[in-house]
Formats: sequence, C-alpha cells, structure tokens
Amino acid sequence: MLKSQIIITADGSKTIHFPEWNESYHSKHGALQEAKHVYIQSGLAYHIEKYASKTINLLEIGFGTGLNAMLSYLFAKEKNININYHSLEKYPLQSSALKELNYTEFFTKESDVFEKLHSTKWELSTEINSSFTLKKIETDLKHFQSESVYDLIYFDAFGPRVQPVLWEKTILQNMYNALKTNGIWVTYSCKGQVKRDLQAIGFHVEKIHGPPGKREMLRATKI
Ligand SMILES: C[S@@+](CC[C@H](N)C(=O)[O-])C[C@H]1O[C@@H](n2cnc3c(N)ncnc32)[C@H](O)[C@@H]1O
Repeated sequence: MLKSQIIITADGSKTIHFPEWNESYHSKHGALQEAKHVYIQSGLAYHIEKYASKTINLLEIGFGTGLNAMLSYLFAKEKNININYHSLEKYPLQSSALKELNYTEFFTKESDVFEKLHSTKWELSTEINSSFTLKKIETDLKHFQSESVYDLIYFDAFGPRVQPVLWEKTILQNMYNALKTNGIWVTYSCKGQVKRDLQAIGFHVEKIHGPPGKREMLRATKI
C-alpha cells in the first residue's frame, strides 16, 4: 500500500498525494479548478451546448474524492438537466481521508449532498435529487465493458506514467464501445500515444486548452 498525504493545491482546495509516485488525485495547480475546467467545462458544458442535451448518461473512471460527481450535481441543478452518473472505483477512499479534504468549504450550502454522494451504497442506483442519480461501481477498469450507453466519459485514472495499463489501446477501445455515437470522452492528459491510439480506434480527437499549469488536454468524440 502506497503512503499518501493530504496537500493544499494552488486554489486552496486539497488533494491526496502519493510521494513515492510523485502523483496526486488532482493537479497541484488547483484541484477544484482542474476538475471544473477538464470535466465540467470541457466535457459536460460542451456536451449540453453542442447537442442541447437535457439528459446525460455519464461514466466516470475513478470516483476517488467525489469532487467531479459533486461539481456535476451542482451543474445539473444550475442548468436544469438530468444526469445519470456512474462511477468506477477500484480503491474506495477511507472516510478518514475524506474528512481531511476541504471541498465542502467551496459549496457550503450543499455539504450534505457531498456526504450523501459518499454514503450511498455501492452498486446501487441512488437518487440524490430528482435530476441526479448516482451509481458507484466497485470494480477494476480493466474488467469493465459496456455497449453504447454513455453520452460522456470523464477519464480520470492516474496518469499514464504511473498506471500505463489503464491507458492502453484495449481500454480506450472499451471506452469507445461504451459511448453512444457523438459521445464525448475527456481527460486531463495530452500524451501523444494516447492521442494516436484514440484516433486509430476511430475517435475525432482535439487537443484543447488545459487547466491552470497544463497547456493542453484531450477531448475525443465518437463519430
Ligand atoms: C486521479 S484519481 C481521480 C479520482 C476522482 N475522479 C477525484 O476527482 O477524486 C484516480 C482514481 O482512479 C482510481 N483507480 C485507480 N486504478 C483503478 C482501476 N484499475 N480501476 C478503477 N479505478 C481505479 C483511484 O483509486 C482514484 O480514485
């Protein structure tokens, strides 16, 4: 088991860091900013603007701290859309680690929702409110397969440097299969090999502006 520590990132939000890997759950340049930029703005907001979608079937790879789920819930509420949120996680976080994070300071009025996202039972679809349903699935991404179900995928595994297997072409092909036509896959990474594999699979791939501290990130559309 790797040792972890809680660190404060540049925007004041905390994240979990693994010194032996020199890898964190989020960018040290701002965990909250990164999540908002990569997944909410470049994924969710982009999808609903492009397709005027009112209901989104969303798959997240790596539930982790639940930050992306929380921000997606807030976005759904603000924009009056429905989200069915599925999230895979191989190593659910201990509640002691969650208590050390400070995300509820950034959405004080909804801190009970953040707790609810974590307390819902795994493998069960749970209504968080009338427009947001969460199903957390405890599994290894390597074993996950699905057919044409999702509109949007947040690919938030640890980076290819430390978890290369999760970025292999067979996994990316599974992600392609899991998406509906016009479905969107986003990630913070902009690794050249990942981009080439996505293109070879049949995605239309864009290198777009990254979050603070990162020049570029990837967005891919199933065409
Ligand atoms: C970069 S963190 C991001 C987590 C989360 N999205 C967040 O904002 O906190 C990567 C996540 O992927 C999970 N993970 C690692 N290997 C996995 C695997 N093989 N299958 C599923 N999840 C995995 C980790 O436990 C961790 O929660």
